[in-house]
Amino acid sequence: MRKNILISGASSGLGAGMAREFAQRGCNLGLCARRLDRLDQLKAELAAAHPAIKIAIRALDVTHYDDVFTAFRAFRDELGTLDRVIVNAGIGEGMPIGKGGFARNRAIIETNFLAALAQCEAAMEIFRAQGTGHLVVISSMSAFRGLRGGLTAYAASKAGVAALTEGIRTDVLRKPAIKVTTIFPGYMRTEMNQDADPAHTPFLIDGETGARLIARAIEREPATAIVPWWPWAPVGYLMRRAPLRWIAKAF
Ligand SMILES: NC(=O)c1ccc[n+]([C@@H]2O[C@H](COP(=O)([O-])OP(=O)(O)OC[C@H]3O[C@@H](n4cnc5c(N)ncnc54)[C@H](OP(=O)(O)O)[C@@H]3O)[C@@H](O)[C@H]2O)c1
Repeated sequence: MRKNILISGASSGLGAGMAREFAQRGCNLGLCARRLDRLDQLKAELAAAHPAIKIAIRALDVTHYDDVFTAFRAFRDELGTLDRVIVNAGIGEGMPIGKGGFARNRAIIETNFLAALAQCEAAMEIFRAQGTGHLVVISSMSAFRGLRGGLTAYAASKAGVAALTEGIRTDVLRKPAIKVTTIFPGYMRTEMNQDADPAHTPFLIDGETGARLIARAIEREPATAIVPWWPWAPVGYLMRRAPLRWIAKAF
């Protein structure tokens, strides 16, 4: 069992949901995000429900890249080892390219891709030293195709992290004690998409169910997992092949 688990972006949504899931399984947690008050509340909730587990929290902006390395090492020192790192922090709400939204789109790429790279570097450094560990990166079904309007930079960032993770997985093919998993979630109701148009969030499920299904998928330690498998695995197959007109209507 992977006992000590670090989750970034744990102050809300799927990150907080996964923290609850792994706390229930008796895991120790290292939780980080920018909103320390939210982490404090979550820690109090989890400590009351699961008094035997250790919970370390830290304010971290993952786009402050040097701080990522410092924070990950501090979590390792506090928990003793890091057995699994879940690179989950992310943002959405982009702008169509060429319509004055460069600052926001850049923030998406920095948070979802460059900061994910920093987190993968920091985690793999620790796993290589330990000789063991499980790196999990939360991508998205939007990685399967280029998407329209406000989703363009987001989809590109998620395709980027999927490729990044596959590369890291290739690096450790001969090190079976180090596993690398890419998760491709479908739409799950969280703060990220609370104002999204229902016509453009097909097959939406609630965030709590989503976090439970993701945690279950992570525990199997596959190379990749589409969550939930139904209907997103067949949808993903179609997404890769469908004409752009279809993609534009559906997402
Ligand atoms: N919900 C979906 O339908 C869906 C589908 C596919 C993939 N995903 C992915 O799932 C992950 C979690 O998203 P969510 O849906 O749970 O959304 P969410 O509720 O908005 O959670 C996003 C988390 O990321 C953290 N975060 C954002 N920017 C950060 C930064 N610069 N530094 C540190 N932490 C930061 C936020 O914490 P602070 O604001 O406190 O920093 C928050 O805890 C994201 O990577 C998202 O792309 C979501």
